[in-house]
Amino acid sequence: MSRPIAEFVRQPRTLVLAHRGASAAAPENTLPAFSAAIALGVDFVELDYLHSADGAPVVFHDETLDRTTDAVARWGGNDIPFASKTLDELRQLDAGGWFSPQFAGTRLATLEEALTLICRDSRCMIERKSGDAKTCVDLLRRLGVVDRVVLTSFDWQFLAECHALAPELVIGALGDKTLTVEMIECAKAAGAAILGWDDKLVTREHVELVHRHSLRAWVWTVDDVNRAKELVGFGIDGLISNRPDQMLAARGSNADKTLITVATYNEIDNLPALVEEIFRHAPEADLLVIDDNSPDGTGQWCDEQAKKDPRLKALHRSGKLGLGTAIVAGMRYAIEHGYKYALNIDADFSHHPKYLPDLIGGMDPPGGPGADVMIGSRYIPGGGIEGWPLKRYLMSRSVNLYARCLLGLTPKDCSGGYRCYRVTKLAELDFDAMLSHGYSFQEEILWMLKRRGCRFGETPITFVDRVRGSSKINSREAWAAMWVILALGLKRMKAE
Ligand code: G3P
Ligand code: CA
Repeated sequence: MSRPIAEFVRQPRTLVLAHRGASAAAPENTLPAFSAAIALGVDFVELDYLHSADGAPVVFHDETLDRTTDAVARWGGNDIPFASKTLDELRQLDAGGWFSPQFAGTRLATLEEALTLICRDSRCMIERKSGDAKTCVDLLRRLGVVDRVVLTSFDWQFLAECHALAPELVIGALGDKTLTVEMIECAKAAGAAILGWDDKLVTREHVELVHRHSLRAWVWTVDDVNRAKELVGFGIDGLISNRPDQMLAARGSNADKTLITVATYNEIDNLPALVEEIFRHAPEADLLVIDDNSPDGTGQWCDEQAKKDPRLKALHRSGKLGLGTAIVAGMRYAIEHGYKYALNIDADFSHHPKYLPDLIGGMDPPGGPGADVMIGSRYIPGGGIEGWPLKRYLMSRSVNLYARCLLGLTPKDCSGGYRCYRVTKLAELDFDAMLSHGYSFQEEILWMLKRRGCRFGETPITFVDRVRGSSKINSREAWAAMWVILALGLKRMKAE
C-alpha cells in the first residue's frame, strides 16, 4: 500500500538524505541521530554498517573503534579494529560520550534495530561497508523493509550479488572517481538505479551524463547551502548531508508551509470570496486551485490573481476529471513541492475557512501529541450539518458506520473532505493503487494511512450544504462506495 521505493526515488524534486542520521545534532550512526533526522522530515536516513567478529551487522562507519567510541579508554591500545570485536563486546561501548555528555551511554545499534526504527516513519539509505550479500538480503526480507530502503556500497560486486538475490531492491552504486560511460554500464549491470558520487566530482555535465543513462544522481556529502542550491540547479536528485535541516531549507522554502488545495469547476461566484477568507484565516499558507477547465472562467481568474499574490497557484486540467483525482493532484503537488501539510477544502463554502487554524494547529500542537491527519468533523461534539434532508444525513451516517466497522477506522467522521494531512505520510502512498473513483475516496485514503500507522485527530466543524447547485452524491454513487469499502474490508481481513 505504500508508494513503491523505485517510484519514490524517481520523483522530480531533490531528495534530502541525512548522512549518518542528523549527525551534526547527535552522534553519527546512532539511534538518537536517526530519530532527529526522522523528526526533520528527511526523505532518507543514511547509515553505514559492518559485520562484527561474530558476523552481526552493526551500524558503524570507521574500520577502527577509536574515533566514535570509548574503546581506547576502556580497553587501552590504539587503532582497535571494529571487526576484532563480537557484538556483545561492541554493545558495551559508549558511542555517544565523544560527541557530547548529553549523549553519554548511547549504545551501538544493530542494523536490525536501526532499520526497525527508521523504516517505521521514513526510509533508509543503507551503506554496506562489510558483510555478505545473503545476510543483508535475508535481513531486509525478514524485516519486510525491501520497499523502504536503498542499498548502496562502493563495492559493486556486493551490489551485483544482492541484485541477483533480490532484483526488486533499489540499488545505489557509490563512487569517488571521475565518472565514465564504462562505469555507468558496470553500475547498471550491478542493478544500480542511482549513482551516489563524491561532491568534489559532481558538475552539471556529471548530472546530465547520469540522467542520459536513465539513472538518478545523488551526491555526498554536501553541507554548504550555496553549493546545495547550485547542485539543485544542476538537477541533482539527492543531497546527502550532515546538515539535512539546512538542505531541506535550500531545496525549497515550503518545508514549514501548508498547501491548501481547492478543486473547482464553475466556481467563479464563490472563489474570490473564498480565497479572501482562506488567506484571512491562514495568511501563511499557499493556496492551489485545481481547475477542470471551468467554462465560467474560474481558471483565468486564478491566473490573473496569481500574478498579484504569489501564495495563490493554479493547476489547470483539461476537463472535468472528478473530485477524487483533483484531491490526489493536490496531494502530489504538495509532495513534489516539499510542503509540510496538505489541506483540502471545498470551493463552495460548505467548509468554512474559519476552521483552518484548528485543523492546522492540531497537526503539531505545543506539547503534542500531534496528528498525521486532522479531520474537520461533523460527528463529534460541537460539530454538525446544516441544510441536509434527513435521507442525505442517514446515508452519510450509514456509510461512516459501515466504513468504521469494515475498515477498523477510529475517526467519527470518515467521509468528510475537510482535512489536513502530513505530507511526508502522503508521500508514502501509492495513489495509483487506489480503488475509489468517487465517494469512497475519503474512507480509502484514511484506511491507507491507517495501515501506515498514522495518527488521526478530529476538530468540530459545521458543514453547511452548498448554496448553489445540488448535492453531488446520489444513491447510485453511495452504493458504489459501499462496494469499494467492502472490497477494502475483505482485503483487510485477508491481511490480518
Ligand atoms: O553516502 C555515501 C557516503 O556516506 C560515503 O562516505 O565515508 O560517509 O560512508 P562515508
Ligand atoms: Ca556512508
